Amino acid sequence: MEYILEMEQITKEFPGVKALDQVSFKVKKGEIHALCGENGAGKSTLMKVLSGLYPVGSYTGNIVVDGKRAEFRKIRDAENAGITIIHQELALVKDMTVGENIFLGREPKKWGTIQWDSLYFEAAKWLKMVGLNMKPDTITGSLGIGQQQLVEIAKALSKNTKILILDEPTAALTESEVEILMGILNELRSNGVSCIYISHKMPEVFRLADQITILRDGQTIKTVNKHEVVEDDVIALMVGRELTERYPRVAHDPKEVVLEVNNYSVWKEDNPQQKVIDNVNFTLRRGEILGIAGLMGAGRSELVMSIFGAYEGRWEGTVKIEGKTVQLKSIKHAIKEGLALVTEDRKRLGLVLDMDVKKNTTLPNLNKVSRFGTINENEEIKASDKFVKELRTKTASLETTVGTLSGGNQQKVVLAKWLMSNPKVLILDEPTRGIDVGAKYEIYNLMNQLVENGVAIIMISSELPEVLGMSDRILVMHEGSFARELRYEEATQENIMLAATGGK
Ligand SMILES: Nc1ncnc2c1ncn2[C@@H]1O[C@H](COP(=O)(O)OP(=O)(O)OP(=O)(O)O)[C@@H](O)[C@H]1O
Ligand SMILES: [Mg+2]
Repeated sequence: MEYILEMEQITKEFPGVKALDQVSFKVKKGEIHALCGENGAGKSTLMKVLSGLYPVGSYTGNIVVDGKRAEFRKIRDAENAGITIIHQELALVKDMTVGENIFLGREPKKWGTIQWDSLYFEAAKWLKMVGLNMKPDTITGSLGIGQQQLVEIAKALSKNTKILILDEPTAALTESEVEILMGILNELRSNGVSCIYISHKMPEVFRLADQITILRDGQTIKTVNKHEVVEDDVIALMVGRELTERYPRVAHDPKEVVLEVNNYSVWKEDNPQQKVIDNVNFTLRRGEILGIAGLMGAGRSELVMSIFGAYEGRWEGTVKIEGKTVQLKSIKHAIKEGLALVTEDRKRLGLVLDMDVKKNTTLPNLNKVSRFGTINENEEIKASDKFVKELRTKTASLETTVGTLSGGNQQKVVLAKWLMSNPKVLILDEPTRGIDVGAKYEIYNLMNQLVENGVAIIMISSELPEVLGMSDRILVMHEGSFARELRYEEATQENIMLAATGGK
């Protein structure tokens, strides 16, 4: 049997959107097959069709798994056929233990009672497989996004999976977690498991994949062998045009200090004895992009969340905005003082998923679109439409529910909402996570434009090329302190990594 999976002429429509248009997609046994395409190209939708989330009858076309016609009515049917999907947005239950999550709905039972000892014993085994040495009774919500992702993979492995689908699995992983994952996938491949890998990170795709299929606007553009193409070929197939430059660096001319943070410490939300940020000092100037690099868990997000008034844990220190000491007690207060924060976790602080694009964009900006307390709908439309155009957000209309947008397009709405608040200081925490290469470029251009207009930007990013490509100055965080400050001229991947890992 050459192909373990054949999807033929798959068409899937939503009201007003043809998400998939006669898509063909074939995967061989024991290969890693990357699925690439811009935000909204249809990658996740195709995988939802395959994994039974969209049941037979809700799309047209054929699916053949291992030579047999597959008609999945529910997710469980697909799982029984050996297909497991790990979704783009994490789906673990936060207040359950890691072990409970791994065996959710499949708990080992005897006489109808759950066998907790054996559940946790088995769970520990799978956790080890993905390099997690935590206790299986750890509460899932206390883990970082990266670790939760690895738990999802452990869960997938614990099912007898023949085709493993990973929808942007490394978006939130640290370098070492990515290494672990790559190792696991290579091992699965040699055991004959097929893997469908969705990622916007070209280096990863090229490192891992055997075959690459490119989707654009809901259609299959081409399937290519990794060895027969280079990154730029794939990007050109994705965006339908040449993209010569990845980072639009322009020389900025930083002005006066707008944000000054002194003797700043932050304690953990869930462990008030432990510091996550230990007495840091930094300044930010109008018209500059300050990059903050560091490994996941170094405290970067806690630092900016706490400055923004969005962190529950205790903090201490002084924050000055334009020379004036402020005591930011809440998000609302921070916005009023001219701060804006685009968070890494869009579900938690970013979006109201069941509201439309327009409302999500204007939500923190109601004063800008209302007069005497009433919302001017025309203003609201005009303002949100501007950003949909500038960021090329793929949405059927401004009234489309945000939850139905593709992952990358949701991220664009988060950005739009904060860009609109016209802040003095814009803090971006992993701003381009899950965003395709073309749209990244547009976001970088927009950042430059804002900086030119006098905004100061702090950008936290785990993608070193992005930090190097866009920052005027880089602070490298290591275990809650700034280990090093680098001007962009002197910064390299090597000296950033060295400082981030505690090297001298
Ligand atoms: N439940 C839904 N209701 C309406 N439209 C939807 C729904 N799910 C997806 N779409 C639309 O279908 C198109 C394809 O979306 P999909 O999520 O498959 O894109 P994607 O390739 O995974 O993009 P990304 O890289 O941003 O994750 C988009 O235009 C999206 O808005
Ligand atoms: Mg997607």
